[in-house]
Amino acid sequence: MITGQPIDRRDGRQKVTGAARYAAEFQVPGVVHAVLVQSTIAAGSIEGFDLAEAQGMPGVLAIITPDNALKLSRNGGVRQAITAPLLQDNTIVHNGQHVAVVVADSLDRAMAAAAAVRVHTTETEAVTSMESALGQAYPPKNFRDGRRPADSRRGNPDAAFDAAPVRFEATYTTPVEHHNAMEPHATIAAWDGDSVTIYTSTQGISGAQGTIASLFGIDPSHVRIICPFVGGGFGSKGSTWPPVALAAMAARKVGRPVKLVLTRRQTYTSNGYRPETIQRIRIGAASDGKLLSLRHDGISNMSMPVLGEFVEPVALATEMLYACPDVAVTHRLVDLNLPLPTYMRAPGEASGVFALESAMDELAAELKIDPVELRLRNYAERDGHEDRPFSSKKLRECYEQGAAAFDWSRRTPAPRSMHDGRMLVGLGMATSTYPVNRQPASARVRIMADGTAVVQSGTQDLGTGTYTVMAQVAADELGLPIGRVRFELGDSRLPKAPVSGGSMTVGSVGPAVVAACAQACSQLIGMAMADQGATWQGVTPGDLRVRDGAVVGPRGRIGVGEMLARRGVESLEFEADAKPGDEQKQFSLHSFGAQFVEVHVDPDAGEIRVARYVGAFDGGRILNAKTARSQLVGGITFGIGMALLEETLVDQASGRIANSNISEYILPVNADIPDITTILVANDDRNANPIGTKGLGELPMVGVAAAVANAVYHATGVRVRDLPIRLEDVLA
Ligand code: MOS
Repeated sequence: MITGQPIDRRDGRQKVTGAARYAAEFQVPGVVHAVLVQSTIAAGSIEGFDLAEAQGMPGVLAIITPDNALKLSRNGGVRQAITAPLLQDNTIVHNGQHVAVVVADSLDRAMAAAAAVRVHTTETEAVTSMESALGQAYPPKNFRDGRRPADSRRGNPDAAFDAAPVRFEATYTTPVEHHNAMEPHATIAAWDGDSVTIYTSTQGISGAQGTIASLFGIDPSHVRIICPFVGGGFGSKGSTWPPVALAAMAARKVGRPVKLVLTRRQTYTSNGYRPETIQRIRIGAASDGKLLSLRHDGISNMSMPVLGEFVEPVALATEMLYACPDVAVTHRLVDLNLPLPTYMRAPGEASGVFALESAMDELAAELKIDPVELRLRNYAERDGHEDRPFSSKKLRECYEQGAAAFDWSRRTPAPRSMHDGRMLVGLGMATSTYPVNRQPASARVRIMADGTAVVQSGTQDLGTGTYTVMAQVAADELGLPIGRVRFELGDSRLPKAPVSGGSMTVGSVGPAVVAACAQACSQLIGMAMADQGATWQGVTPGDLRVRDGAVVGPRGRIGVGEMLARRGVESLEFEADAKPGDEQKQFSLHSFGAQFVEVHVDPDAGEIRVARYVGAFDGGRILNAKTARSQLVGGITFGIGMALLEETLVDQASGRIANSNISEYILPVNADIPDITTILVANDDRNANPIGTKGLGELPMVGVAAAVANAVYHATGVRVRDLPIRLEDVLA
């Protein structure tokens, strides 16, 4: 089996040599440059522009404002078909909103002219602080795209809370955070008549195709999206944000290909962020720690409703993570004059499990029960919210193997009871979970006469290993060494695949690859039977295998090349679709994990260092142990950033993001991250999908912030309920 082996990522050499081409690097003849002009006020309207100076500057080809912008279609079904930042009207709802696009024959000239555009505005009062607007909190209108209500309740949690011997209640907050993908959002758009080719950095080429087609009122077949590499997305490239359409609009206006690359600062206002949350957790428990009542009330910030709706679904994990008869969750929104938030790595779970798993730790401390033991006492053998069995759940193994590798048993329960020299030592843990998602996907396989195969699907590789693991899957199905299989993706002309979000690429595309390869094998076996005729008399298809470019059976082999030559064809092509079955109705589908962390806190300076980390995960079957580990290390690193460093600061007076650069938005660097031990608990979940995977992209980030906060509490005795945890928080 090639599947499962820790082989190197196949695009590695291209990436380290610079050969991998990212969106802005495609060489398109005659390309000109677009630069965005942004609002400097947070609320109000555009009264007019003074363009004389900018228009007179050298090389300027067009200045597009709401006065002369192409009218785009607002047909339904388009996510993020945001009207105001597409220059369709004069409303301003956030600082940094796009108000004009300047196109010039060089980037420098476009930047200079953009700086010379004068915008006249009328300013109205902006709401930029969530705390000041809590009175306006309202229920979402379209939670989970309308697939379920924003609130849920089972049993009677309020009565159960009132009757519970142990009652605990606390509020946790998480700040606005940004994705900070290394590759900024970039688009090159080139029209040819009524067709447009768009090179763009996206997590979803089919979504981009549909959005652009809808906005410009053209058939999707007239939109080609190309994206072979993505320099990070983390959710920020899951939707087709306005700059993509603005590049296409500018290209149409000037009749030349247009390149639009966001500046680093613009990536803080143009493609979403993780919204701020305020979460109240209320737990009623028996004195042995058994949960009797659980409530999770979450509020997250929105932009203004004219831009759409995004809800951070913080409380969904609370519905299913523990056995508890009486549970209620709610989600509310508060409108602010900020850009539209969006999905960011483990949207909902990353913020929500911080609150829930901090609260569980507080309960454990209050009851003097070991934190792992408390979780085991409340282990959910079945999903109490959906009232279904789990497709598979190896969370017990995650706790056991994680605790053993971490040596959790050396933890002494009392806060401030462990030391390393003068440093306070804290050991903390938390549970992780993330839904297993899957959507319909298609794949094509072309069997070549030379015994190689090309496998294709219009999916994406976010740097996570799609090129590599899909080639592994195909190689096994086709009985070929991996060197003879090429996997192609990132072009909307290829068979359709879903957005690479929600940790579902492998579980969606993998089954389509398997199905296409199975068709190929069955056809090749049929051809071999026909060709061998009398020689293979008595041989049945079940006796035959496709291996190393031949059909092999008990009475010898026949080469694929020979069979193709007989038919006078150079290759054979097979395409297959794969889609979820009724497993969503039969099972509760989740991946799981256990996070263990040791922090060292300087008792005088308050400095918090992560000293040791162990994460154990049940992500179903693992296709490549190396790319899987990279995902786990990346997610844990992201979680440590969330715990200790990351925070987007909004200037309350102007609604401007004050730290919109990676020099000021603090991210973990190598020196902040210890050696991370990762454990992949053995599992192969054929209830989840035909290849047994459950997804690994987001799971490893969930619970990290809680584990760190719990470790900081254990080290210092200070409970920090507001992220990020700062040194001044522990210098009480
Ligand atoms: Mo992920 S936040 O679903 O791209």
